[in-house]
Amino acid sequence: MRMFKNRSFSIDLGNSNTLVADSTRMLLAQPSYIVFNANHSVKAVGEQAYEMFEKTHEELTPVKPLRGGVIADFNSASLMIKELVNRAYTQKASFLSGYDHIISGVPYYTTEVERRALRDAIDQFNPRKRSLLFEPLAAAIGMGLNVQEPDGKMVIDIGGGITEIVIISLSGIAAFQSIKVAGDTFDMNIQDYFRRNFNMSIGLKTAEQVKILAGSALDEINPIPDTLAVKGKDLMTGIPVTRKIDHREIAFILEKSVASIERSIVQTLETCPPELAADIYQNGMHITGGSSLLRGLKQRFEKNMKLPVHLDEQPLSSVSRGIARVLANPKKFTGVLID
Ligand SMILES: Nc1ncnc2c1ncn2[C@@H]1O[C@H](COP(=O)(O)OP(=O)(O)OP(=O)(O)O)[C@@H](O)[C@H]1O
Ligand SMILES: [Mg+2]
Repeated sequence: MRMFKNRSFSIDLGNSNTLVADSTRMLLAQPSYIVFNANHSVKAVGEQAYEMFEKTHEELTPVKPLRGGVIADFNSASLMIKELVNRAYTQKASFLSGYDHIISGVPYYTTEVERRALRDAIDQFNPRKRSLLFEPLAAAIGMGLNVQEPDGKMVIDIGGGITEIVIISLSGIAAFQSIKVAGDTFDMNIQDYFRRNFNMSIGLKTAEQVKILAGSALDEINPIPDTLAVKGKDLMTGIPVTRKIDHREIAFILEKSVASIERSIVQTLETCPPELAADIYQNGMHITGGSSLLRGLKQRFEKNMKLPVHLDEQPLSSVSRGIARVLANPKKFTGVLID
């Protein structure tokens, strides 16, 4: 047995959450946030940084380094993953040296410039080998789908910054739509609604909680979530105020965004080769990503698309699980990795 072993790991650098896994297990899952001190040193990353968000003072600078699923602030993103990867490995560090293979997820619809930023951020670890894997393909593998056979599989990954809809066959992507409407959009829709209709300012974290606790994509759902009392600030007087909201009102607020995701699903089916479309009508569609947990979404898609809809059991980790599988067995998955 070798004394020093190189480490290989997978990273899903998401708009909302960053996951690090090796070929056997999840090492870390933390919100994609970082907070800097006035002297630019790192104050906090991950969960701790998320806690501080919208609660900082002028000495602290909070940053969410990803937007729409891609790196928006390179330095912050690099520092954030450096801190997170170091944290993932602290306990075992003494037995391990250097990095062997690092595979990172990347949205399918990305520009060369966006991919280069991601590669540069990973290269700070000096791995022996570095690869990228399209996130919807990784999600499909993570959900246990056989992506290699000539049989169309439809995967819809609704994350925080981006929704990608793809049809996979023979380890490749035969049709796709990618839109920057996802969890963050839902949160902003809720924040805007409170501002416009009640002159009330609420934080994005509050909006996200409202969405998770009482949000819905349908009027009629079962069981019905409890009505929520939302705390915020009156924009005219500056006084703290509370207003109640129920799932129907949130369904109304989210309607436009959810409908635009549905339009993209329809467009993907329209542009898909007929043989693959026939497979999809048989196999149905697989939805994953944290925002696929929105209450009633599965039922709504089933009703409107007239297709079976399979909701991933662990939608927050499908991409990471998929990359880890490829890492464990790269020979089996030749062809899915890109440089
Ligand atoms: N129960 C829930 N109901 C609705 N939305 C949820 C729920 N749980 C998590 N979310 C949302 O899921 C989103 C995060 O999902 P995920 O971790 O898949 O995104 P990401 O991979 O970081 O982003 P992206 O794929 O866009 O880069 C957030 O917007 C979060 O609010
Ligand atoms: Mg994602």
